[in-house]
Amino acid sequence: MALDRVGGADGNSQRLFLALTLPEEVRATLAVLPQKIADVVWTPPEQWHLTLRFLGDVSADAREALAARLRDVRVEPFVLALDGVGTFPPNRPPRVIWVGTGAGHPRLFQLRQKIDDAILAIGLEADLRTFHPHVTLARCHAAGPGLAQWLHRHHAFAGPAIRVDAYDLYRSDLQPAGAVHTRLERFPLSAPA
Ligand code: 2AM
Repeated sequence: MALDRVGGADGNSQRLFLALTLPEEVRATLAVLPQKIADVVWTPPEQWHLTLRFLGDVSADAREALAARLRDVRVEPFVLALDGVGTFPPNRPPRVIWVGTGAGHPRLFQLRQKIDDAILAIGLEADLRTFHPHVTLARCHAAGPGLAQWLHRHHAFAGPAIRVDAYDLYRSDLQPAGAVHTRLERFPLSAPA
């Protein structure tokens, strides 16, 4: 079956994801947000990114097949504002603290759609969940009053804008001290012909 052929946690598979990398000056602007809050673990700023698609364990063959298709994706570069903060999951105890993208940008959703098309075309499993673009800043284990105050203080956070002219394929290695992300390939954006 196609899924067995291209995916799966075998010896040569890697845990992969596609993301927008945040320029250092953008991360520096977001660095005003972390503050000491009980039960909240802030992720290292150098790891902050906007996940376009988590791929899970992918074989070397499937990675190459996917990369070949992603190199052909055509979406025009665009500017995306980082706006607002919040938590996931909605209406449940928070696990993730994020900065959002306001109303987003149509080309961000176009890019995600084209990535999903490429994934489907090579037989990897589709992620049918709604895409909620965000940058994870922290993970939390309990919702204390400190977090509620922080959300209240920053609810209208207006972050910097990012010029999105490429997206990246990352490998994520789960280490005892936390995930280590390594960029494997960059896919530049360009206008459709
Ligand atoms: P998030 O931090 O943007 O919420 C690399 O691990 C990235 O892929 C993480 O930043 C995380 O998203 C996302 N990710 C990790 N595990 C995932 C999973 N099981 N399902 C969906 N997305 C996942």
